[in-house]
Amino acid sequence: MKNFHQSVLLKEAVDGLNVKQDRLYIDATAGGGGHTEEILKRGGKVLAIDRDSEAIDYLREKRLENLTLVNDNFSHIKSIAVKFGFEKVEGIIFDLGVSSHQLDEAKRGFSFQKEGPLDMRMDPALPITASDLVNNFEKRRIHEIIKDFGQEKLSWPIADAISSARQLKRINSTSELAQIVSEVYRKYRRKSKLHPATKTFQALRIVVNSELLNLEEALPQTVEILKKGGRLVVISFHSLEDAQVKRFFKQAARLKTVNKTPIGPGAGEIQKNPRSRSAKLRIAEKI
Ligand SMILES: C[S@@+](CC[C@H](N)C(=O)[O-])C[C@H]1O[C@@H](n2cnc3c(N)ncnc32)[C@H](O)[C@@H]1O
Repeated sequence: MKNFHQSVLLKEAVDGLNVKQDRLYIDATAGGGGHTEEILKRGGKVLAIDRDSEAIDYLREKRLENLTLVNDNFSHIKSIAVKFGFEKVEGIIFDLGVSSHQLDEAKRGFSFQKEGPLDMRMDPALPITASDLVNNFEKRRIHEIIKDFGQEKLSWPIADAISSARQLKRINSTSELAQIVSEVYRKYRRKSKLHPATKTFQALRIVVNSELLNLEEALPQTVEILKKGGRLVVISFHSLEDAQVKRFFKQAARLKTVNKTPIGPGAGEIQKNPRSRSAKLRIAEKI
């Protein structure tokens, strides 16, 4: 379980929560527990949620005090909060996307750098894997997914290449898909600082896990469980997610934005943890 901990914008995010002794906080995306442990260290009591049972099991083994762990989707955040006595809280944090652990474990199929099954489900109970998606969805739909959620300029040729490859053989592994995308980049002589498959993998992951939909369902519920003066802190890694958060902060009548422009990682943090490069932190307060 190496690298379980690389929490992005750890200090800035937890500072944003304004943690007070013995008050209640929800970490909606527990992951490796970096944010949770920092809140506990500052005296808060935490309800930590993750849809990935491996994250919850990992944290349970630590036997931390003042921590309640729940393996569920944060799209049910209000009912989870009520069930566990966290129906009025001082702060809620979302650190969206995929954890370092999920990326590092080849068998989870999130990483184009590791040979593994093309899975990408954060929760193994989810009905569709990334492999099901690339092998069964219509070519046009695959194109739309890669374009919309990956903002990939070569979305058509990549969808085309996937469609041709799967006629010969089912695409089962991360490296097979990474290879197909890399070939398209080579053919179009497209240079990229990131691995050619970065955007395609991100797009598939977002769809397999219904990431934008879950966030859309969760955000309005947070206002109902926050106390007056309570803080909502969101770290996103994708421009569509950030746009969703920004719009919600603006439209929610009972929220006021704390930082007008989002906070990003410093150069040092990006160097230590490249995953942080696209992170944006937004903080709002319930009025
Ligand atoms: C970026 S990691 C969180 C890292 C964590 N803050 C830390 O300090 O280690 C995101 C986590 O959120 C979880 N997650 C993503 N979407 C979720 C959802 N809809 N409901 C619950 N957990 C979710 C993922 O399984 C992953 O473990």
